[in-house]
Amino acid sequence: MDNLDQLLSQATAAFSASADINALEQAKAVFLGKSGSVTELLKGLGKLDPDERKRAGAEINRCKAAIEQALEARREALRAAQLELQLAAKALDVTLPGRGRGRGGLHPVVRTQERFETLFRSIGFEVADGPEIEEDWFNFTALNTPEKHPARSMHDTFYIEGVQDVLLRTHTSPVQIRSMQAHATRYKDAEVMPDLRIIAPGRVYRVDSDATHSPMFHQVEGLWVGENISFAGLKGVIVDFLQRFFETDEMQVRFRPSFFPFTEPSAEIDFAFMSGPNKGRWLEIAGCGMVHPNVLRNGGVDPARYTGFAFGMGLDRLAMLRYGVNDLRLFFDNDLRFLAQFQD
Ligand code: FA5
Ligand code: MG
Repeated sequence: MDNLDQLLSQATAAFSASADINALEQAKAVFLGKSGSVTELLKGLGKLDPDERKRAGAEINRCKAAIEQALEARREALRAAQLELQLAAKALDVTLPGRGRGRGGLHPVVRTQERFETLFRSIGFEVADGPEIEEDWFNFTALNTPEKHPARSMHDTFYIEGVQDVLLRTHTSPVQIRSMQAHATRYKDAEVMPDLRIIAPGRVYRVDSDATHSPMFHQVEGLWVGENISFAGLKGVIVDFLQRFFETDEMQVRFRPSFFPFTEPSAEIDFAFMSGPNKGRWLEIAGCGMVHPNVLRNGGVDPARYTGFAFGMGLDRLAMLRYGVNDLRLFFDNDLRFLAQFQD
């Protein structure tokens, strides 16, 4: 039967033209579906007489089997192509070099802090610590800072909502009080209180932001309390430290008279290199002074017998100077292209 051969080649062509499984299912319906061409032919058999029905039925069934075979072959081919595609999409190039794990390093401010600690430990200072969420009393009141002082205003200080008398410390100076109290308690029965020599590095917070001010920054408090502590001693310790920290004598250090409620007399320390790329650029690096008698008293230390000096140095400012960085906010943007430059 010519028309059966024709039907088979039509079906084979339709299956080949089907680009995916969906199209193939539609093509299948045209030939083998409920009202597909082959099904219609089979339905027509009833009208034939028995001999003719037998012969035609066999031929139609042979054709049907051939169409089903062609369908299955195409289905298999499409499945294989699809698998090929999926494999190609997930291809692994085993000849690529491994990605490796980048080696981490210390943040430049942490490096600066470690260097600071090493140098001060070498002259007998211990490293002390205090909370970043501090009580108003330690941060201000005990440091002789009056009720109306501008540093206490909402514009300058981060307070904790819903909690009274608690704030993010604005400087490391509250550690002065905590350390003196602990030291005085420890030696309350001693004839002479041994010298208290501490540095206290850590994070502090202020409502501040420009190239040399960040809302979170790092200070190191320094405190030396004893029987004969003088401003001359303070200058010696600071200048010696700076020369060792920067590994040069080519610097100018200026103690500029200033005011802090918790020291008297008080000064701010300005620093400039006398050579190198940052020559002549002054930067305030610290506040300092002789500990105020009220502050010694609040720390449990007798101001009639003991004196002390204190300073609060900006660690980020030291890092800026050491690494020649002119905007301190870069330290806290967490851009690895910037930070990776400080690994050695
Ligand atoms: C104080 O905070 C005093 N507690 C310092 C002090 C301690 C005086 C002990 C006397 C005795 P001042 O606000 O000046 O002082 O800050 C000290 C240093 O911290 C500054 O010199 C500067 O180096 C650094 N600093 C201050 N504000 C910022 C800021 N927003 N970002 C980065 N560094 C800052
Ligand atoms: Mg200052």
